Order: sequence, then structure tokens, then C-alpha cells
Amino acid sequence: MKNYKLAVVGATGVVGTTALKVLEEKKLPINEYVFFSSYRSSGKKIEFMGKEYTVQELKEDSFDKGFDFAIFSAGGETSKKYSPIAVSKGCIVIDNSSAFRMDENVPLVVPEVNRNDILKNNGIIANPNCSTIQAVVALKPLDDKYNIKRIVYSTYQAVSGAGSKGIHDLENGISSYLNNSKSYNLEKFPYPIFNNCLPHIDVFLDNGYTKEEEKMINETRKILGKPDLKITATTVRVPVFNSHSESINIEFEKDFDIKDVLNTLKNAPGIIVQNNPNSNDYPVSSLVSGKDKVYVGRVRRDYSVESGINIWVVADNIRKGAATNAIQILEELINK
Ligand code: A2P
Repeated sequence: MKNYKLAVVGATGVVGTTALKVLEEKKLPINEYVFFSSYRSSGKKIEFMGKEYTVQELKEDSFDKGFDFAIFSAGGETSKKYSPIAVSKGCIVIDNSSAFRMDENVPLVVPEVNRNDILKNNGIIANPNCSTIQAVVALKPLDDKYNIKRIVYSTYQAVSGAGSKGIHDLENGISSYLNNSKSYNLEKFPYPIFNNCLPHIDVFLDNGYTKEEEKMINETRKILGKPDLKITATTVRVPVFNSHSESINIEFEKDFDIKDVLNTLKNAPGIIVQNNPNSNDYPVSSLVSGKDKVYVGRVRRDYSVESGINIWVVADNIRKGAATNAIQILEELINK
């Protein structure tokens, strides 16, 4: 069996650190790993699979040594600059940033939904936005059965999705509240995220939506292969450390029986249904953190339309929403 060489770019970041944990768990046939960061963390030591690794600064010649695969989680600018270089040296890149997601030559993949699109890659495969990944895992089996005609997304997104600065803002907000201190430096958000819900993720666009909302709309259409699907979204950052929650309102072309909807979700890949509200059984972010599946609950008919439902979807945004999904793609590439 061939053994592979993998580069992890952004290995010291929130997603990169989790990617290393997932790689340790998965035990893929990879025998050489190199971990890259910016100059800031270069030289840092990382303990991985019982060995000590030294983080290297990413440079233009970093891919000269020949890698089979690279996972990029170091922001869009780093991906735009370095992934074409990696590809030109024969490396296949799995990119966590939004840089290439809507490029028609780049497959945008959630393995449970469109694993075969991986084969259409030209060297780069994009990992979708975290809030899109968990949504489409739940939507795909429903679309196959009842043909979705409209989606309304409302998200409740954790601070880990904003990287280590987002996590610091929540930690600093909590400690300054407990210490009765009035002010602290905000590293990421325009307002304190502690004690607030901010209807603002990524930048605002001219049409009044945020880029995060636009990403959810466009990426869902691309992954489901339905370019004209009607979708609207409101994305909100909430004072939760990890795991995104989403309320999804879905309208179908076809009629349905709610028990069939539940069975369809229960039998779909990558989903755990937690839907016994009478015993307070529904997914919550703290209990989903650390898990790789997408959790679905509060499944109920929307009586305001002819054929529609509401569901509550929770997943670990750093694992399934980023690192795990990227490594599932890597696994598919190795197996293919
Ligand atoms: P560094 O630790 O040197 O800053 P986060 O998720 O916390 O925002 O982390 C982002 C990750 O991307 C970190 O590993 C960071 O490295 C890395 N990174 C940021 N800019 C670059 C760059 N220009 N080249 C390589 N890695 C980068």
C-alpha cells in the first residue's frame, strides 16, 4: 500500500489544531507530515502521534519537497497565494477558506452529500463554510425524497468559528464580568460577544446581507446542485464557545408524512436524530462539541405553508464544520 505525505497549513490555528487531533484518531496511511504556520509560530513544537514536530514557516518553496496532499486552514489570502503553488508541484489541496468555493472548476464537497464531485478536481477541493456543511447533511436526504423548493436559515454560531481571537473575546468578556471590570480589549467582534447576540458574521455587502449569509445561500445551491433554489438566511454570532446551532425552515414540492421525515433523517449518513422533546431530548451545542456527526431535533410540521417543516441542526463547527469534513475528503482521495 502506498504511503502518503501530507502538509497541514495553519497547523497552529483553531481548525489546524483540531485537524491534527482528527488525523491522530483516523490513522490514515500517511507516513510523512509537515506542519506550516506563519513566521509567528514557526519553530513551535507540536506533539503529534507520539512524536515531536517543529512547525515551519510557510514559504514559496515549501512545496518543492513534493507532497501528495495539503490541508489549508490559514485564511483566504494564504490559500490564494500558496495553493496554486502547491498544485503546480503536484499536490492536491483541500482548502478550508472561502477563496475557491464558488469557482466552477473547484468541487465543493461534503462527502455525505456529493462525494463523487471529488473526482472532478483540478488540484483543489474546497471545504464548504461551517454553517453550510451541517445544513446540507440534513437537507440532502430530504431533498432527494421531497424536493426542496425554499429554505430559510437562522443560525446561532459559536465564537470558535471566528478563530482564536473570537474565543479570546468571549473568555475576556466572561472574566471581566466576573471581576466587575468595565472594559477589555475586543480582538475580533465590534461589540462584546459576552451577553450579546450579534447579527453580523463576516462583512456586510451592499444588499444588506452579510458575506456569511451569502456564503450559506450560494454554497447550499452549489452542493445540492440546485442553482435556482430559493434560500434566505440570517446568521448570528452567539456567546457559545463551540458548535453551531441552526433553525432551518424548509418547504417541499411534495407532500410528506412527518414520521417518514424522521425515518429519512434517521437512515441518512452522518446524522443523529435527537427528537424526543417531551424528555428534553434535542441537540445542544455543549453536548455536540467534540462529535463528528450532525445532530437533528425539533422536527415538526410548519402549519403556515402547504408542505413544510422546521428542524434544529447542531454540529461541532470546528470538527464536522471544518477539520473532520476536510479529513473525510482526504480519506476519499486516498481510497480512490
Ligand atoms: P500563526 O500561528 O503563525 O499565526 P486561527 O484559527 O487561530 O485564526 O489561526 C490561523 C492559522 O493560520 C494559524 O496557524 C496561523 O499561523 C496561520 N496563518 C496565518 N497567516 C498565515 C500565513 N501568511 N502563512 C501561513 N500560515 C498562516
